[in-house]
Amino acid sequence: MCGIVAYVGHRQACPVILKGLKRLEYRGYDSAGIALLNGNGLNIYKKKGRVIELEEHLKQTDITSTIGIGHTRWATHGEPNDQNAHPHFSSDRKLAIIHNGIIENYASLKQDLVNKGHKFLSETDSEVFIHFIEDIQRNNHCDLEEAVRLALTKVVGAYAIVIMSVDEPNSLIAARKGSPLVIGLGKNEFFLASDATPIIEYTNEVVYINDHEIVVIKDNLLKIKNIQDVAMTPYIQTLDMELEAIEKGGYEHFMLKEIFEQPKSIKDCFRGRLNAAKGSLVLGGIREYANKIVNADRIIIIACGTSWHAGLVAEYIFEEFCRIPVEVEYASEFRYRNPVINEGDVVIAISQSGETADTLAAIELAKSKGAIIFGVCNVVGSSIARASHEGAYTHAGPEIGVASTKAFTAQLTVLTMISLIVARKRGTITDTKYHEMLYALESIPEKVEEALKLNDQIKYIAELFKDKRNFLYLGRGYNFPVALEGALKLKEISYIHAEGYPAAEMKHGPIALIDEEMPVVFIATKDSSYEKVVSNIQEVRARKGVVIAVVTEGDKVIPAMAEFVIEVPATNEALMPMVSVIPLQLLSYHIAVMRGCNVDQPRNLAKSVTVE
Ligand code: G6P
Repeated sequence: MCGIVAYVGHRQACPVILKGLKRLEYRGYDSAGIALLNGNGLNIYKKKGRVIELEEHLKQTDITSTIGIGHTRWATHGEPNDQNAHPHFSSDRKLAIIHNGIIENYASLKQDLVNKGHKFLSETDSEVFIHFIEDIQRNNHCDLEEAVRLALTKVVGAYAIVIMSVDEPNSLIAARKGSPLVIGLGKNEFFLASDATPIIEYTNEVVYINDHEIVVIKDNLLKIKNIQDVAMTPYIQTLDMELEAIEKGGYEHFMLKEIFEQPKSIKDCFRGRLNAAKGSLVLGGIREYANKIVNADRIIIIACGTSWHAGLVAEYIFEEFCRIPVEVEYASEFRYRNPVINEGDVVIAISQSGETADTLAAIELAKSKGAIIFGVCNVVGSSIARASHEGAYTHAGPEIGVASTKAFTAQLTVLTMISLIVARKRGTITDTKYHEMLYALESIPEKVEEALKLNDQIKYIAELFKDKRNFLYLGRGYNFPVALEGALKLKEISYIHAEGYPAAEMKHGPIALIDEEMPVVFIATKDSSYEKVVSNIQEVRARKGVVIAVVTEGDKVIPAMAEFVIEVPATNEALMPMVSVIPLQLLSYHIAVMRGCNVDQPRNLAKSVTVE
């Protein structure tokens, strides 16, 4: 939530920052702004709306400056408007700040500052933050670096900040706690951003900043220290990311590109890990703690959003193959529930971004109670990846569309691999079944490729249903979480109300909604609950509901009952979610496009939810 970009070096900062902000727009896009040292000093330009509107606004402006900070916002304190957009000035307009996160004690800080005569132009906690720093500097007669450090010892909350000062024209000061921050190291130039995507076209050498660290870039030198004023040694990493991975590559939207990338992203996920012909399956990340999972009394899965749905599928997989009880928890509930965590419990945290605040907090809580944390993340070097004891990356490549697609199927790939490794070690899977599963997993990219060929058919169905106001998604067993995911995709990007339910639960409530106006999407592939789902379809038909059914190729029964049938290739029941979700992703995509919605940046949402 909120994207920050800053630059200092020999280039013009403004184009670098604007381009970077566009790459970070998935993090927030209700307003954008930039601060530059140009003309007669430190100037801030900001605008409600997207980065493109800021760009327009800057057209007649002298943007010459080799230092600058920029921000794209997802509102927390104060509505999205020009005043609340970042950057914010200190009261003497000598300092400017960009901030991602929330300062929880901002109200009391603000009251003190108001009593001292400070006037605020916005409703944000971030403006309070920079006034607070200014006040500390004034009272302590210290330099800016020390004032920032002292302020950080007093603020409560989460932040990634970058500050520039009119008095220090070659210097940027940054810090993080709870919100991501990465520094790109160029030749006599530095790039700061919320993630590496604005950086990789300039340099692949980066330093990920840790919580409670302060960064000072001054006269071409980078210095990192902690909040106790102890110098830290920067750990320089080389990024392994291609520029084309973060561009649309001819697709109209990132979401469509990412849906179509799935055969490749699933393959990338098991590449070097799975070889069915050799019967080998290795996950580097579960070496040291493998026995902990193998001997676990219970697995607790914590996640949010789509990652939580992947966790629900994993519950079925782990229980079936490993015979270990599994609980799947919303991270936001888990963290405030005083949960019972025992020594033999293993926590699996799933997160595409690796930055979701609730998931991160739930991890810290579980860790404090002695649990082992296994992270399943997509973003390399992310906070959750680093907070976990061990883990496995999904290697799906950058996911930019706000609605998660390829991350989901990659998460399922990793979770299936973990469960098979554990099941084998526990002796809860037969040799035959194990090898059958390896082959089945290896062939999933082809099945997904087949399912993607349904695109035109799905577009046709989308056209017929795009004006509906409600949808119901029903599935059982492994396809129940797919029903939840299908409904989530539709509401996220098309703003149509949609609910996912276990098909059998329909008669305990949702059936009351069914009439000729209600499209019901059944995920009804041939599996152990197939016959039961067929009965549920009959129940919907009897009440004149309109049935769209995702079925297994060659099904003869459901086509005779459903108005619309989408045939996906057969695979093992436990792996079907990776295939059956594809038509649902495409359906929501096409409906949203036809309704004129901004598919990649749906209203009110953000890709990376770094506030609770
Ligand atoms: C946001 C995104 C969702 C995502 C969820 C969890 O709500 O819009 O697409 O599923 O966060 O994010 P994570 O990065 O932890 O998987």
